[in-house]
Formats: sequence, C-alpha cells, structure tokens
Amino acid sequence: MDNYILQMKDISKSFPGVKALQHVTIEVRQGEIHGLIGENGAGKSTLMKVLMGIYHAEEGDILLEGRKLKISGPKEAIDQGIGMVPQELNLNPFVSAAENIYLGNEIKGPRGIDWKRTNEEAKKVMASVGLEINPNVIVNRLSAAQQQLIQLSRVLATGAKLLIFDEPTASLTTKETETLLNLMRKLRDEGKTIIFITHHLDELLSTTDRITVLRDGQVVSVDETSTIDESDLIEEMAGKKMAKQTRVERTVNGEEILKVEHFSRGREFRDINFSVKKGEIFGIGGLVGAGRTELISAIFGITRKESGTLYLEGKQVDIKSPNEAVALGMGFLPEERRAHGIFPILSVKENLVVPMFHKLFKAGKIDYGEAKKITENYIERISIKTPSVETQIKSLSGGNQQKVILSRWLAEGARVIFMDEPTRGIDVNAKAEIYDLIREITNDGVTVIVVSSEHEELMLLCDRIMIMHEGEQKAIVDAKEIKTSQDILEIALR
Ligand SMILES: Nc1ncnc2c1ncn2[C@@H]1O[C@H](COP(=O)(O)OP(=O)(O)OP(=O)(O)O)[C@@H](O)[C@H]1O
Ligand SMILES: [Mg+2]
Repeated sequence: MDNYILQMKDISKSFPGVKALQHVTIEVRQGEIHGLIGENGAGKSTLMKVLMGIYHAEEGDILLEGRKLKISGPKEAIDQGIGMVPQELNLNPFVSAAENIYLGNEIKGPRGIDWKRTNEEAKKVMASVGLEINPNVIVNRLSAAQQQLIQLSRVLATGAKLLIFDEPTASLTTKETETLLNLMRKLRDEGKTIIFITHHLDELLSTTDRITVLRDGQVVSVDETSTIDESDLIEEMAGKKMAKQTRVERTVNGEEILKVEHFSRGREFRDINFSVKKGEIFGIGGLVGAGRTELISAIFGITRKESGTLYLEGKQVDIKSPNEAVALGMGFLPEERRAHGIFPILSVKENLVVPMFHKLFKAGKIDYGEAKKITENYIERISIKTPSVETQIKSLSGGNQQKVILSRWLAEGARVIFMDEPTRGIDVNAKAEIYDLIREITNDGVTVIVVSSEHEELMLLCDRIMIMHEGEQKAIVDAKEIKTSQDILEIALR
C-alpha cells in the first residue's frame, strides 16, 4: 500500500475566463520529493494555493494522512503542518530576519513578544538551513538567496512536515541552487515531504522521486523520476515532440552601435571596455555579484558611473537618466519584475504598450485599436496565456507576466535593448520562442545585450559573451567557442 501524506482529489478551480484546474488529482508519498511541472499558466501555483487555503476550489477533496481536511485559510493549512515558500516572496523587507520568521507565529512572554527568545529561536532555525546571520539584520539587506532561506525558516518554524517550494531557484546562482537542492535532500532525509516546482528540468531529474506533469489545468502524467528523461518531460508538458534547442550560427556585419570605454564605479565594476555591433546579441555572463546588473544600470542612466565614456553610433553621449536613454532609442528589461516592471492593476495591453504611448497618440487620443493589435501579436508569438488583452496583469501566472514585460521592450522599437535575466521563470518551450524572437529582431538590426546567469542561455543565444567576475572584465569570447557551462566558470575564475 502506498503511504500517502497528501492526496488532492478531483480539484477544480476557475477564474473569470480561465479553467485553471480541471479535476486535478495529485498524490504525494510520505518522505518523497515530488516534482510538479508544466508550462507557464498550467496551474501549478494555483494548485498549491488551493492546498494552502489561499484559493478555494469549487470541487474536490484534500486528504492529509488519509483524513479529509477542510482548509478555509492559510492558518488552517499551517496548523495541519503544511508550509509554502511562495513563487513571489512575501517577506516584510523593513523588519528583522527574526521578526519575519516569527511573523504571525510570535513567541509571546508575559509582556508581549519575547524578543530574546524570538532571536534565539530564529538563530537556531536559520542555522538548520545553513544561514549564519545576525537575526536582527533587516531583511532588505540580504541577498535573494538569503531571503529565500528566511522564507524557508519561517515555514520550518511553524513545524511544517509538508513543504512546498514554488520555483525557489529562479533567482539563485548555480552554486546557491546546488546548496538549496542539497538542503531539500537533507530535509527529505530528516523525514519531511517536499513538493518542488521548477522550470529547470535538470533540477527535477536530480532531486525528485516522482514527477507530476500538468498541462492546461489537467494532469497528463505521473512518473517515477528514474524512468524518464528531459525530452519525455518536455513532450509531456507541451503535448507534442519538441526539437532540442540548438545554437543558430549567424554572422553579424553591422557597424558598431555602442561603445563602452573605461566604465568604473568603486569596486562594483572596474575599467570595463567593449563595443557592440548593430544586430548583435551580446551576452554578459559570470557569477552573481560579478557587477553585471550594476554595469548595465549605469550605462542606461539608472545609476551613475564614476568614470568612463559611452559612444552611441560613434558619438559621445552622456546619459543621466533612463528617460534620456529611452530618448536615444534604448530599452531596458529589469531583473526585478515585481518591483520595477509591472503595473499590477493595469491590463496586459496597457502594460505592454506603456513605453509606446507617445507613438500611439493619434489626433489627441491613444489609439487603443493599434495597442490591441500589437498585444495580440505577442500573445500569439510567444504564447502568452491570458483570457484577454484586457485582463489585469497581476492575475497572470508568474511566467506569463514576465513574457508581457519582455514583449514590451521587443515591441517598443528600441535600437539597443538591455535585458537582465530575460527568461527567469519562463518554461523551456516558451524560452525557445523567445530566443527566436530575439534572433528575428536582431536580424532586423536591433542590438540586444543580455545579462544571464544561465550559461546555457548565453551559449544558445549570443554571438559574443563578455565574462565578468567581481567587477572585472575577464574576457570577451566568441560564443561558439564556449562548449560547456564549465568553460564560462573557468574564465570567470582564472
Ligand atoms: N488570481 C487570479 N485571477 C485570475 N486568474 C488567475 C489567478 N491566478 C491564476 N490565474 C490563472 O490561472 C492559470 C494558472 O495560473 P498559475 O499561476 O497556477 O500557473 P503556473 O503553472 O504556476 O505558471 P508559472 O509557471 O508561470 O508560474 C493562468 O491562466 C492564470 O492566468
Ligand atoms: Mg507559478
């Protein structure tokens, strides 16, 4: 007999215009790491939010250790020993690590919150996940990986035995990812059960015991991990066979469009020199903390450099703000989508055409017909899953929000586009569509500069790659000379 800790049976959940889950059944064995995958918008996060009592299913049952549960809110889920590290972290950035860990689960003494014990206990939980920091540190001082561990500590502090990780590795470096995967294995060995959502198939194959695949709100398969491989998973997710992605060899003969000379700011980036051709896809790689985001932010005028010169089409330009950069024909896709990217309550269409408003003005009014056409084109091209162009962007799945923001800059008509981690959270098949689109606009003469922590992405997509490490430019290489991810690491560390 299978020993199931969790059974969700015949779960259905709809939103206006979307059947997010249709009769979904998922069974999770005690003590396993259970993978959950599917394309963007397949229903993974929704299923987990039903389990956490954040959403209420119209139909279906939830059984924990064979007992039928009625979960009407997160508090009940937590009381039952279920905890989630959500896709979009929900820490309070302005209070301490300890306070975040015990938020809603305060340790009380005779006179209110017992801070001494809160800090002591927080320190212990953090140590159990390998986080050796002062419990008093304010959370916005911590790196993405550390914040993730705070969120996990919060879950562990509630005594959860069933842990849900929704895309926990999306903003982690290769090394941090490896650490987190090891931590998940350790938690399993200690008797916890884990549900793990990720778009990185290699992570799933290396950590999970079994995998459930969702497609369009329905379960298409449940497999023992040892019996399947990457191409099986891709096929199950998409419902059809997909060709493996390969590099497209291109020759870029355009003239130099952008030249960066001696760019420096403190220790963040030092004496950076490169030039990019019209129509080129130029990658910037290295480990997180290499100074890549800082560098492109300074080029684009989001922050100031200390020294250095920038040339656009051979002419020296001094960009002091992002507005000036946009006026010169540049675009920027930021790394932190939620903080800098989206207007949550505006529609998909409005979010997509924001930087184009001035172009859409006709006879004193915005040409919404044109805006709709542009939006529909991208919905089709990179399979953005949304009930309509009028849907509020915040109700789209995480990956689909990212696709909208990306389309914004593809559609805007900029001549030089900077993209910081453009495909974070995007499923494998949609990635391929996005790469095709980037190749297409660059064939038409647009220049794209991509910062990516996914070495695979740089290798597949770029013409040349600049590799940085701790603020220094280590090399600029022809991307076809890079054969494995290890090559990039070696250059970064030499
Ligand atoms: N609050 C909401 N309001 C309306 N629609 C929603 C809401 N939450 C999710 N949806 C819709 O339900 C479907 C499933 O979304 P969900 O977030 O579960 O996808 P996902 O599999 O987690 O995708 P991703 O890989 O992009 O995170 C999508 O079509 C999404 O637009
Ligand atoms: Mg999701």
